[in-house]
Order: sequence, then structure tokens, then C-alpha cells
Amino acid sequence: MTLPPFHPFSLEYTANPKPYFAQFHAEGRLVEHEEFGAWFAHDYDAVRALCDHPQMSRRPSVTQYSEEEMEARLARWPILDARMSGGPPPEDEEYNDQLVLRKVLAPDFRPGTIRKLAATIRDVVAKHCAPIQWEQEVDIVKLVQGVPLTVIAQLLGLAESGPNAEIFLTAGPDFFRGIGPLVSDEAKDRAEAAAHAMIQVLAEEVEARRTAPRDDLISHVIEEVDQTEGMDPGEVIPTLVVLLAAGTDTTRLTTSLAIKTLLEHPDELERLRANRELLPNAILELMRYEGATKFLARSTLEDVNWKGQTIPAQSSVLISILGAGWDPRVFEAPERFDITRDLRGSLSFGFGRGYCMGSHLARLQLKELLDFFLDHLPVGASVDPAQMVWDPSNAFLREIRSMPAQLR
Ligand code: HEM
Repeated sequence: MTLPPFHPFSLEYTANPKPYFAQFHAEGRLVEHEEFGAWFAHDYDAVRALCDHPQMSRRPSVTQYSEEEMEARLARWPILDARMSGGPPPEDEEYNDQLVLRKVLAPDFRPGTIRKLAATIRDVVAKHCAPIQWEQEVDIVKLVQGVPLTVIAQLLGLAESGPNAEIFLTAGPDFFRGIGPLVSDEAKDRAEAAAHAMIQVLAEEVEARRTAPRDDLISHVIEEVDQTEGMDPGEVIPTLVVLLAAGTDTTRLTTSLAIKTLLEHPDELERLRANRELLPNAILELMRYEGATKFLARSTLEDVNWKGQTIPAQSSVLISILGAGWDPRVFEAPERFDITRDLRGSLSFGFGRGYCMGSHLARLQLKELLDFFLDHLPVGASVDPAQMVWDPSNAFLREIRSMPAQLR
């Protein structure tokens, strides 16, 4: 069967990019997609180097949007775009912003702090995923989506049954689905309403903590922001939004794909069921084999040379960490799913300065979710890939709208 031409927003590439990876790894070059106007990296060495390259920015290239488009984006997404507009930042501003963000969030995301959440996360998982114990069929994506949102709501300190927690949990799933060139107007409208609702909730909660601080993430962020030179109080909400953006859909999709992979590899599933101590390594292998991140986005500040190719300054570069995990030069026989594979060098949580700050929290949630599924998934449960509904328009994640699983 011939492979349709590579397009980052095609269903083929989104649902099963592995045949494309094989082709790109054999060629060993960056791919320039003229119609889409961006460069693509899939080889392990290129991905690792470009992820944390001194001449690359995380902000979109100024040439990517016209002035009009940028104004329209800013009007719709003031919180998200305020720091993203205007192209390359002066000097080290972007790097400093990132250092500040990491400093502000670090205390709440250290391994020791996160470990203490295990019992809370176990309860959240048991509550959300209980239906797998009795239902014939469940939609895995919908089943698990409440877990990361509820965990973050609890970290933030939103009272579980309060109205703000309810708005937060209802608006959450739509929040980030309005960004991207191919998103429908209807999805944009829904996302915009969700964003306003979420930001209103956060604003109220921040206000309440200012007069009466508590022992929760919002209060800690307020305190850190107040104590950090050069940060103003207006930075609190954008910082919390970064967390939501980074920590919810990533976890939902990673878990869904992990369950699919396990159901498609019953021998490895049973091996894991019998040997739970393998879970930490299995999680990394699941992320290598079928990761949820489609691309990390960068733009070049200057011309960047890579093994004889030159990416011109002001170009958009999309980096596939999933592709890197399928590079046979680093991961032998990448098509073999092996929960005991040596995964030192995994790039699934990024690389370098921007390495995922929530990796311990993400791994703990994945561990608790998978443990629950391993306890309760009946033998013979299955997912039919033909029934999965993908949303290929998402540039950053391999978005799945629906993934029905037959349980019994
Ligand atoms: C399985 C779930 C997750 C995956 C696959 C994942 C993956 C990643 C990746 C690849 C990056 C690097 C992005 C880049 O270089 O452009 C990143 C950054 C980040 N992640 Fe995660 N992440 C997950 C869960 C979380 C969670 C639960 C949180 C927190 C609640 C979180 C917070 C962050 C933050 C704050 C950054 C930005 C760090 C910086 O800019 O310095 N992530 N994540």
C-alpha cells in the first residue's frame, strides 16, 4: 500500500505515524513541508538537539501569523497569547521567563511533594474509572478525562463540591481545543466560553487566597510571584493556565493510548498484571511506543544548520518526540513493544531546559490509572482502532475524541 503524502494534520499521520517515521529515519534528514510552511524533525539526534537549541525559541515565528491574524488571536486568547506574540523575545527574556516559571512551580512538583498525593490520586482514579468493573463497553478517553482535571483542581485547592470546582471540571475539557489553524468556529466558540469560565474561576480563587492564604498551589504561586523580583501579581493566573495546558490533555491522551497499546499486546499486559514493579519502566515504554505528543513547537531565531541542511531564521520547526522514540539507531526494533526495554535516553517528557515539570505527577497518575485498569480489566477486553475518532487538527497532541473499548 502506498503511503499518502506526509501532512501534519492528516488523519493517517495522526492516527498511525509509524510508516512515516520509517521513511524519515531511512532518509535521515529534516523534512521541509512547503505547503504547511514548516520544518519537521523526527530523528532522535535532531529532536534532542533542536528541543533545547540556543538559536531556537518556543514562541511562534513572527512570519507564521499576519498582523491581522495575530490581533484576532489576541482578542480571542488574551491569556494564552500575551506572552506568545511579537516574535522572538529581546535577548534572554524568554529564557528568564522560563526560569521564573520553573522557580515558581518547583516546590509543588518535587518528587517528595508529589509522592504524598498517591492516596488522593488513587481515590480520584477509583471514583472516575469504577464503571470498568461492570460496564460492557466504555469510552476510555471520556472515562479518564476527569482524572487529571480533578487532580489539578485538588492541587489548586478548589473545594471538591464547590461551584467553582464544578465549573472548572465542566469547562476543562473544552478549554484548549480552540487553538490551531484548522479548528472549526464552533469549537473555537466553545473553547472561548470555557476559557472565560475557567479564568473567572481562577480569578475568584486567587482573590480569595490573597486575603486568606491556604496550603495549596494557588497560595504557593501567589507567594512565589510576590517574592520574585520582576514578576507582578498579574502573572499568577497565566502561570496557573500554563499548568492546566501542560498537564490535563497530555495525561488523558497518554493514558488512553497506553490502555490501547496494552490491550493490543495481551502477553505484555499479563506480564505487567503479574509484575507491577515493572510499571515505572512500562510507562516509559508505553509513551515511547504510542506517545500522545504530536509535535513540540519551536521557531528559529537565526539560521540553524543541521547536518548539512539550513533552516532559515524565522522558520517554524515542529519536533516529533514520538518519532525520536521510533528511531532504530537508538531504540532497536522499535516496533517491538517491550515493557523491560532500556529506556535511558527517553525523550517523552522533553529534553533540556524545558523538561516537563509535571513528570513526577504525570507518572504517578499514570501508575495509579494503569494499576486500577490492571486490577479490573477483564481478560479479552479490546479496542477496535476503526472505531476510534481522531481529531487530526490538533498540532501539538494526537487528539482522540472517542475510543470505545469492549470490556466483556
Ligand atoms: C503524560 C503526561 C505528560 C506529558 C506526555 C508531558 C510532556 C511534556 C513535554 C514533552 C514537555 C516539554 C515541552 C517543550 O519542550 O516544548 C513538557 C513541559 C511541561 N510540562 Fe508536561 N507532560 C505531561 C504532564 C504534565 C503535568 C501533569 C504537568 C503539571 C501539572 C506538566 C507540566 C509541564 C510544564 C509546566 C512544562 C513546561 C516546562 C518549562 O517550560 O520549563 N506536564 N511536558
